[in-house]
Amino acid sequence: MIPLNRTFILFLSFLALSCKHDSPIVFQDSPGEKYRPEYHFTPSEGWMNDPNGLVYLDGEYHLFYQFYPDSSVWGPMHWGHAVSNDLVNWENLPIALEPDSLGYIFSGSAVIDIDNNSGFGTEENPPMVAIFTYHDMNGERSGAKDYQSQGIAYSVDKGRTWTKYKENPVLLNQGIKDFRDPKVSRITDSDGNQLWMMTLAVMDRIQFYSSPDLIHWKYESEFGLGIGAHGGVWECPDLLPFKTKSGETKWVLLVSINPGGPQMGSATQYFIGDFQNGVFTPDDQMIRWLDYGPDNYAGVTWSNLPQEQDRTVLIGWMSNWLYAQSVPTESWRSAMTIPRELSLFDVEGTLLLKSAPAKEVDLLRKASYKLSDKISALPSQSVEIKAEIENDFSIQFTNDLGEKLAIFKTGGLVTVDRSLAGQNTFHPDFGASNSAPMSWNASKIRIFLDASSVEVFINDGELVVTSLIFPTESFNTIQVLNGVENVEIFDLKK
Ligand code: FRU
Repeated sequence: MIPLNRTFILFLSFLALSCKHDSPIVFQDSPGEKYRPEYHFTPSEGWMNDPNGLVYLDGEYHLFYQFYPDSSVWGPMHWGHAVSNDLVNWENLPIALEPDSLGYIFSGSAVIDIDNNSGFGTEENPPMVAIFTYHDMNGERSGAKDYQSQGIAYSVDKGRTWTKYKENPVLLNQGIKDFRDPKVSRITDSDGNQLWMMTLAVMDRIQFYSSPDLIHWKYESEFGLGIGAHGGVWECPDLLPFKTKSGETKWVLLVSINPGGPQMGSATQYFIGDFQNGVFTPDDQMIRWLDYGPDNYAGVTWSNLPQEQDRTVLIGWMSNWLYAQSVPTESWRSAMTIPRELSLFDVEGTLLLKSAPAKEVDLLRKASYKLSDKISALPSQSVEIKAEIENDFSIQFTNDLGEKLAIFKTGGLVTVDRSLAGQNTFHPDFGASNSAPMSWNASKIRIFLDASSVEVFINDGELVVTSLIFPTESFNTIQVLNGVENVEIFDLKK
């Protein structure tokens, strides 16, 4: 289906204006605009999925993304591009990478090749290098198995223009059809040498490849067979070092999986362990989820953040392959989550990963209100709610049509119930009530509501539930039912 694009609609409105009409002309934005978020990144039109090439350079956070500009359903993949200097206000830039004779440009990462190991730039002006998957549609159609390979491209002007490496692909497929989503990071090996490490999703496992120059890649090891969740294909990995409280380094391996998530469809699991000499060894066999909601997928982290930031920041695709292509937004599809800072925490001796809203999200706060009653009107449909909670609590948002979004914890389960929260007939599984186990105490909550999403962070992100919602009319009332104190409401409308 080719959607009406916005320029075309504006053009039609202009034509209408230039004709003589007796009745007043009403300008209408594209259908589905009422669900356009206020403070989450969306493509201006067309289809978007995974965040790609997250990299920081000279004050700019780059966000590349899987993009099909000609339709609002998935198609020939490009890398769209946006930049921000605060992770919450984004400027759209021209498309960075387009499909070519080797195939569509699937997900991948970007690094700053600081010592110019690749030779694509100079030491004074180190290149930005993108490492991505080529997906050859003809190969796929012909029944071949080796139609995904890894390619690279570089930019010497801060990501504005790109040159594809002339000898692509740089990593050939050995006959495994799912062979994709390279996430490259700079690693120091046990001899103190710096090298590039690629974490690659290969069907039902992760493979690691190392390189001195981003061009020549050597197989190191693989991880994952028989470990973790395996209800679907492994995709979009990331490998991250963290310091524990005792000063020890622990490695976290993020692995998105589709389907097979805790709420059906897509989700991101993670493993905690050690990474040495190109080998990842998990501490245990436990299955852990980054976000228990149905709508945070393919999240990866920014590379090259200045050392003084001392943090790991992730953004995810706020959707689910189950229904992403049928959500009621029409001329554009999909938003990113708010940016999140990842860190480790401990529950009775077990290490887990938490995702707190990045501190820049506070920049979005406009007016703030204290809730003096149990029920209050909302200043807009784009708000943050911050409150202290008891271990069992209950909050709900409603609109004048009686639609309701319920968020509560009871009996060790956190639930975000969107079954009565508006439109849900576009997919049989969308209207679910989603629950997540939380065996430890809840004490505070932050809820980020936008035109078509709700992100719930309990205890600064010790438990997170991200969900899309499509209320027929905006939620305009909050009601706290039990176990909620000191409620603050921040208007996030720009
Ligand atoms: C994950 C994914 C990736 C792939 C991309 C294609 O959502 O399936 O594995 O590279 O989307 O758009």
